[in-house]
Amino acid sequence: MKIIRDIETLKLAIALHKKNGRTIGFVPTMGYLHEGHLALAKAANEENDVVVMSIFVNPTQFGPTEDFESYPRDEMRDKSFAEEHGIDILFLPSVEMMYPDRLTATIHAKRRVSVLDGALREGHFDGVLTVLAKFFHLVQPDSAYFGQKDAQQVAVVQGFVADYFFPLVIRIIPTVREEDGLAKSSRNVYLTEQERKEASTIHEALLKARNEVVELRDQAGILANIRTIINRNRSHKKIVYLDMYQYPSFEAIEDWEKPIVIAICVQYSKARLIDNEIIGGV
Ligand code: PAJ
Repeated sequence: MKIIRDIETLKLAIALHKKNGRTIGFVPTMGYLHEGHLALAKAANEENDVVVMSIFVNPTQFGPTEDFESYPRDEMRDKSFAEEHGIDILFLPSVEMMYPDRLTATIHAKRRVSVLDGALREGHFDGVLTVLAKFFHLVQPDSAYFGQKDAQQVAVVQGFVADYFFPLVIRIIPTVREEDGLAKSSRNVYLTEQERKEASTIHEALLKARNEVVELRDQAGILANIRTIINRNRSHKKIVYLDMYQYPSFEAIEDWEKPIVIAICVQYSKARLIDNEIIGGV
């Protein structure tokens, strides 16, 4: 595995692979790797000749009161994880490398962002798209891998890539979970023991709701049932959001036969966890 920290070296490595006709799979991450990230790496390995993973805690997607400074980082551990999971190039740029100067033109997400994290985390998806545009130009992947766990992110990235004809395929990988159903997340380390025990009800409630979408088709009733299950526990501070939309538009439900996403965010003492279920083929 090659570890690359600067853009010029990355460009040379990519140019060589391209010259040799190799396909490139790209897995963008913010590190503190877990099985969720590794599932993306596995799919990238199966489908491409070369796998590039980036680890970069991207400052432009964090709000001023969010956890950019305290976001978990462990480069040593990430390096050995990446090596063990068939990454060919691990790109570890600095903030100065990715943002050498103030931007002349900015990227602003307009659709699919008026609800959930798009509404609550102002500028978050602008930052995600900005860093991905940079990475896509540098890595020139044939395919880029994203987790369904961040359903709104996937929808926004897919829209962006389609709008601007980025010459790559977005591959969506199902959410990887702990044995009790909790979605794997770098932020799970923030949970206390009690919170960790109770956090599995998020997935449990969403699974029940999955059946109700098919049988009940009653949005208010389905959401109320999810709240009841989660609020049976006491350890979380609040449900930050819980709602359902048409997927991938994130607009109000008009057609129950078309894909629907139920998305939730729960705040614990330190961890802010998100999860979702998508019902109907996507
Ligand atoms: P990060 O949170 O590190 O996630 C990197 C990728 O791993 C994302 O596509 C995310 O959806 C996926 N992922 C996380 N947990 C997962 C799980 N339990 N199962 C399956 N996939 C999972 O998302 C970001 O970083 C950033 O916004 C990024 C796209 C890298 C841009 O900075």
